Amino acid sequence: MIIRAVVRGVGHYLPERVVPNAWFEDRVDTTDEWIRTRTGIERRHFAADGETTSDLGAKAAEAALIDAGLTAADIDALVVATSTPDLTFPSAATMVQAKIGMKQGFAFDVQAVCAGFVYALSNANALILSGQAKRVLVIGAETFSRILDFDDRGTCVLFGDGAGAVVLEATTGSGATGDRGILATDLNSDGSYKDLLYVDGGVSTTGTAGHLRMQGNQVFRHAVEKLAETAHAALDKAGLSGADVDWIVPHQANLRIITATAQRMQVPMDRVVVTVQDHGNTSAASIPLALSVGKERGQIKVGDLIVTEAIGGGLSWGSVVLRW
Ligand code: UT7
Repeated sequence: MIIRAVVRGVGHYLPERVVPNAWFEDRVDTTDEWIRTRTGIERRHFAADGETTSDLGAKAAEAALIDAGLTAADIDALVVATSTPDLTFPSAATMVQAKIGMKQGFAFDVQAVCAGFVYALSNANALILSGQAKRVLVIGAETFSRILDFDDRGTCVLFGDGAGAVVLEATTGSGATGDRGILATDLNSDGSYKDLLYVDGGVSTTGTAGHLRMQGNQVFRHAVEKLAETAHAALDKAGLSGADVDWIVPHQANLRIITATAQRMQVPMDRVVVTVQDHGNTSAASIPLALSVGKERGQIKVGDLIVTEAIGGGLSWGSVVLRW
């Protein structure tokens, strides 16, 4: 008998305001047609003035707690994956902790940009396997609209705001691949690629929040190669292969990257949860949002084998294999 970190609940929250592609046509030299065909994105949500990352994260956390049949009093650790925290400090996680009325345990942020949720899930799994926590709220929450340069057509059309959350719970497993819970994780980073995707401001440089800068086609090239590699690495560690996968739940950056990765894994597109058309790229929030929407749609069911994979600034990338 071994301990497994099992998803007991999932939930998400999207800000009310929906921004269609056409909104950008008045602002930069772009078209709805270009955005749809090059990215798959049709619309995204933007947070209201005064609505912050911890507001979105708290709402997603509350939805996940309801789905799990638990309250904040049942949680002993809370992790928020974000690159757009409300403040430089304290962490968005402690702010979410206060908003959901969680008085015990500990809370901290993980910053691995678009790979943030995969990193947070892997670290929450380690907390559970090492006995440091029994129930962990793992949240991805972002307000990327706040760091977009709305004069840069190469980036401003791509991103959106939102949050998703899961409750992970320590559960006894047999050690076999049929167990529910996280079966393997694979994390990678290579800081020499900093210039491909970064924000041009920060506390110890400009003293400002800065704007997102990206060499999109370079990131695209790395994404197609590295996402399939990390997904295969995690499946290998679990003793499984692409043929065992019920659902790929990928980071939702670009439909062309999602499709190319599924092809490389030899998983058909009807086994991939796709939400990029409705959310755009919500960075660390995209995978938990897709898990929650995938469950709502009736795609993801108990016992399904799921592979999540993501890449973002750093570059940082990784994959988690879990049985729902
Ligand atoms: O989540 C973190 C990881 N990020 C990603 O995974 C993003 C990865 N990259 C991508 O998704 C794609 O590279 C983009 C969607 C960003 C761009 O697509 P692309 O097929 O790689 O296009 P490109 O950057 O090579 O640009 C092709 C053309 C350029 O024009 P020229 O130089 O050929 O005349 C761009 O200036 O498309 C132009 N372009 C646009 N045209 C209309 C760039 N953005 C736009 C736009 N509207 N919004």
